[in-house]
Amino acid sequence: MRRSLTCSLVAGMAIAVTSAAFAQGRPENRPLRPQATGVRALANVRELHDILISPASDAVFDASAANPPGDDKAWAAARAQALLLAESGNLLMLGTRARDNGAWMNMSRALVEAAALAATAAQNKDAKGLETATDAITVACMECHRPYRDQGRQMGAPK
Ligand code: HEC
Repeated sequence: MRRSLTCSLVAGMAIAVTSAAFAQGRPENRPLRPQATGVRALANVRELHDILISPASDAVFDASAANPPGDDKAWAAARAQALLLAESGNLLMLGTRARDNGAWMNMSRALVEAAALAATAAQNKDAKGLETATDAITVACMECHRPYRDQGRQMGAPK
Protein backbone atom coordinates (compact mmCIF):
# COMPACT_ATOMS: atom_id res chain seq x y z
CA MET A 1 0.00 0.00 0.00
CA ARG A 2 2.68 2.38 1.10
CA ARG A 3 4.77 1.38 -1.83
CA SER A 4 2.03 2.03 -4.38
CA LEU A 5 1.37 5.41 -2.80
CA THR A 6 5.04 6.33 -3.29
CA CYS A 7 4.85 5.09 -6.83
CA SER A 8 1.85 7.20 -7.71
CA LEU A 9 3.42 10.20 -6.04
CA VAL A 10 6.53 9.82 -8.10
CA ALA A 11 4.50 9.28 -11.25
CA GLY A 12 2.36 12.32 -10.46
CA MET A 13 5.43 14.46 -9.98
CA ALA A 14 6.90 13.26 -13.22
CA ILE A 15 3.74 14.23 -15.05
CA ALA A 16 3.67 17.64 -13.36
CA VAL A 17 7.32 18.29 -14.26
CA THR A 18 6.77 17.17 -17.84
CA SER A 19 3.68 19.32 -18.32
CA ALA A 20 5.50 22.32 -16.85
CA ALA A 21 8.34 21.76 -19.30
CA PHE A 22 5.88 21.53 -22.17
CA ALA A 23 4.03 24.65 -21.07
CA GLN A 24 7.29 26.57 -20.91
CA GLY A 25 8.34 25.42 -24.34
CA ARG A 26 5.16 26.63 -25.98
CA PRO A 27 5.06 30.22 -27.17
CA GLU A 28 2.80 32.33 -24.94
CA ASN A 29 1.61 29.14 -23.23
CA ARG A 30 -1.04 28.73 -25.89
CA PRO A 31 -3.18 25.66 -25.40
CA LEU A 32 -2.27 22.82 -27.69
CA ARG A 33 -4.55 22.64 -30.69
CA PRO A 34 -4.98 19.51 -32.77
CA GLN A 35 -2.78 19.81 -35.84
CA ALA A 36 -2.71 18.09 -39.17
CA THR A 37 0.27 15.77 -39.30
CA GLY A 38 2.16 13.94 -42.00
CA VAL A 39 2.92 14.71 -45.60
CA ARG A 40 0.60 16.43 -48.03
CA ALA A 41 1.20 16.04 -51.76
CA LEU A 42 0.33 19.16 -53.75
CA ALA A 43 1.69 18.94 -57.30
CA ASN A 44 0.27 16.32 -59.66
CA VAL A 45 2.57 13.99 -61.60
CA ARG A 46 2.75 16.32 -64.56
CA GLU A 47 3.52 19.37 -62.43
CA LEU A 48 6.18 17.42 -60.58
CA HIS A 49 7.79 16.72 -63.96
CA ASP A 50 7.64 20.37 -64.99
CA ILE A 51 9.08 21.80 -61.81
CA LEU A 52 11.48 19.09 -60.74
CA ILE A 53 11.99 15.93 -62.77
CA SER A 54 12.58 17.53 -66.18
CA PRO A 55 14.91 20.37 -65.08
CA ALA A 56 16.89 18.12 -62.73
CA SER A 57 17.25 15.29 -65.25
CA ASP A 58 18.22 17.77 -68.00
CA ALA A 59 20.97 19.12 -65.73
CA VAL A 60 22.25 15.63 -64.92
CA PHE A 61 22.18 14.57 -68.58
CA ASP A 62 24.05 17.76 -69.55
CA ALA A 63 26.68 17.22 -66.90
CA SER A 64 27.15 13.68 -68.05
CA ALA A 65 27.50 13.87 -71.79
CA ALA A 66 27.88 17.20 -73.49
CA ASN A 67 29.49 19.07 -70.70
CA PRO A 68 31.33 17.02 -68.06
CA PRO A 69 31.89 19.08 -64.89
CA GLY A 70 35.21 20.92 -65.11
CA ASP A 71 35.74 21.98 -61.52
CA ASP A 72 34.64 21.31 -57.94
CA LYS A 73 31.78 23.74 -58.18
CA ALA A 74 30.37 22.10 -61.31
CA TRP A 75 30.66 18.63 -59.75
CA ALA A 76 28.85 19.87 -56.65
CA ALA A 77 26.12 21.36 -58.84
CA ALA A 78 25.74 18.08 -60.72
CA ARG A 79 25.49 16.21 -57.44
CA ALA A 80 22.81 18.61 -56.19
CA GLN A 81 20.72 18.06 -59.32
CA ALA A 82 21.14 14.28 -59.03
CA LEU A 83 19.94 14.45 -55.43
CA LEU A 84 16.93 16.53 -56.48
CA LEU A 85 16.13 13.93 -59.12
CA ALA A 86 16.46 11.10 -56.61
CA GLU A 87 14.15 12.87 -54.18
CA SER A 88 11.65 13.48 -56.97
CA GLY A 89 11.46 9.69 -57.28
CA ASN A 90 10.45 9.60 -53.62
CA LEU A 91 7.84 12.26 -54.29
CA LEU A 92 6.35 10.17 -57.11
CA MET A 93 5.51 7.52 -54.51
CA LEU A 94 3.69 9.94 -52.27
CA GLY A 95 -0.05 10.29 -51.76
CA THR A 96 -2.35 10.52 -54.76
CA ARG A 97 0.62 10.60 -57.15
CA ALA A 98 1.13 6.85 -56.67
CA ARG A 99 -0.95 5.17 -59.38
CA ASP A 100 -0.81 1.81 -57.63
CA ASN A 101 1.04 -0.01 -54.93
CA GLY A 102 3.08 -2.24 -57.24
CA ALA A 103 4.87 -1.43 -60.49
CA TRP A 104 4.52 2.33 -60.01
CA MET A 105 6.36 2.11 -56.71
CA ASN A 106 9.09 -0.10 -58.22
CA MET A 107 9.63 2.27 -61.12
CA SER A 108 9.72 5.32 -58.90
CA ARG A 109 12.17 3.49 -56.71
CA ALA A 110 14.29 2.65 -59.77
CA LEU A 111 14.54 6.38 -60.46
CA VAL A 112 15.63 6.99 -56.86
CA GLU A 113 18.35 4.34 -57.14
CA ALA A 114 19.64 5.45 -60.55
CA ALA A 115 19.78 9.10 -59.52
CA ALA A 116 21.48 8.12 -56.26
CA LEU A 117 24.17 6.42 -58.37
CA ALA A 118 24.60 9.66 -60.28
CA ALA A 119 24.91 11.61 -57.02
CA THR A 120 27.63 9.26 -55.79
CA ALA A 121 29.46 9.45 -59.12
CA ALA A 122 29.37 13.25 -58.97
CA GLN A 123 30.61 13.20 -55.41
CA ASN A 124 33.54 11.05 -56.55
CA LYS A 125 34.02 13.23 -59.65
CA ASP A 126 33.70 10.06 -61.64
CA ALA A 127 32.70 10.98 -65.21
CA LYS A 128 32.43 7.36 -66.33
CA GLY A 129 30.26 6.49 -63.34
CA LEU A 130 28.03 9.45 -64.12
CA GLU A 131 27.63 8.19 -67.68
CA THR A 132 26.59 4.74 -66.44
CA ALA A 133 24.16 6.31 -63.97
CA THR A 134 22.51 8.48 -66.62
CA ASP A 135 21.93 5.37 -68.72
CA ALA A 136 20.15 3.81 -65.74
CA ILE A 137 18.13 7.01 -65.24
CA THR A 138 17.00 6.94 -68.88
CA VAL A 139 15.87 3.33 -68.48
CA ALA A 140 13.93 4.25 -65.31
CA CYS A 141 12.13 7.09 -67.13
CA MET A 142 11.21 4.94 -70.11
CA GLU A 143 10.16 1.89 -68.10
CA CYS A 144 7.58 3.96 -66.28
CA HIS A 145 6.36 5.89 -69.31
CA ARG A 146 5.62 2.80 -71.37
CA PRO A 147 2.79 1.51 -69.18
CA TYR A 148 1.73 4.65 -67.34
CA ARG A 149 2.09 7.42 -69.89
CA ASP A 150 2.21 5.92 -73.34
CA GLN A 151 -0.19 2.99 -72.86
CA GLY A 152 2.36 0.43 -73.98
CA ARG A 153 3.69 2.36 -76.99
CA GLN A 154 7.46 2.35 -77.39
CA MET A 155 9.09 5.75 -77.21
CA GLY A 156 9.22 7.34 -80.63
CA ALA A 157 6.64 4.98 -82.11
CA PRO A 158 3.95 6.58 -84.28
CA LYS A 159 0.84 7.63 -82.38
C1 HEC B 1 7.08 6.37 -61.88
C2 HEC B 1 6.73 6.83 -63.19
C3 HEC B 1 7.53 7.84 -63.92
C4 HEC B 1 8.88 8.05 -63.90
C5 HEC B 1 9.94 7.28 -63.12
C6 HEC B 1 9.13 9.14 -64.79
N1 HEC B 1 7.98 9.58 -65.36
FE1 HEC B 1 7.80 11.05 -66.74
N2 HEC B 1 5.79 10.81 -66.75
C7 HEC B 1 5.09 9.87 -66.03
C8 HEC B 1 3.66 10.04 -66.27
C9 HEC B 1 2.55 9.22 -65.68
C10 HEC B 1 3.53 11.11 -67.16
C11 HEC B 1 2.22 11.72 -67.72
C12 HEC B 1 1.79 12.79 -66.73
C13 HEC B 1 0.49 13.48 -67.12
O1 HEC B 1 0.46 14.13 -68.15
O2 HEC B 1 -0.45 13.35 -66.32
C14 HEC B 1 4.90 11.57 -67.46
C15 HEC B 1 5.19 12.62 -68.32
C16 HEC B 1 6.46 12.99 -68.69
C17 HEC B 1 6.75 14.02 -69.67
C18 HEC B 1 5.73 14.83 -70.47
C19 HEC B 1 5.06 15.79 -69.53
C20 HEC B 1 5.74 17.09 -69.46
O3 HEC B 1 6.25 17.43 -68.37
O4 HEC B 1 5.76 17.80 -70.47
C21 HEC B 1 8.13 14.12 -69.75
C22 HEC B 1 8.92 15.05 -70.64
C23 HEC B 1 8.68 13.15 -68.83
N3 HEC B 1 7.63 12.47 -68.21
C24 HEC B 1 10.02 12.97 -68.59
C25 HEC B 1 10.53 12.10 -67.64
C26 HEC B 1 11.94 11.90 -67.40
C27 HEC B 1 13.05 12.62 -68.13
C28 HEC B 1 12.03 10.97 -66.40
C29 HEC B 1 13.26 10.40 -65.79
C30 HEC B 1 14.28 11.27 -65.33
C31 HEC B 1 10.69 10.58 -66.02
N4 HEC B 1 9.80 11.29 -66.79
C32 HEC B 1 10.38 9.65 -65.05
C33 HEC B 1 5.63 8.92 -65.19
C34 HEC B 1 6.97 8.80 -64.86
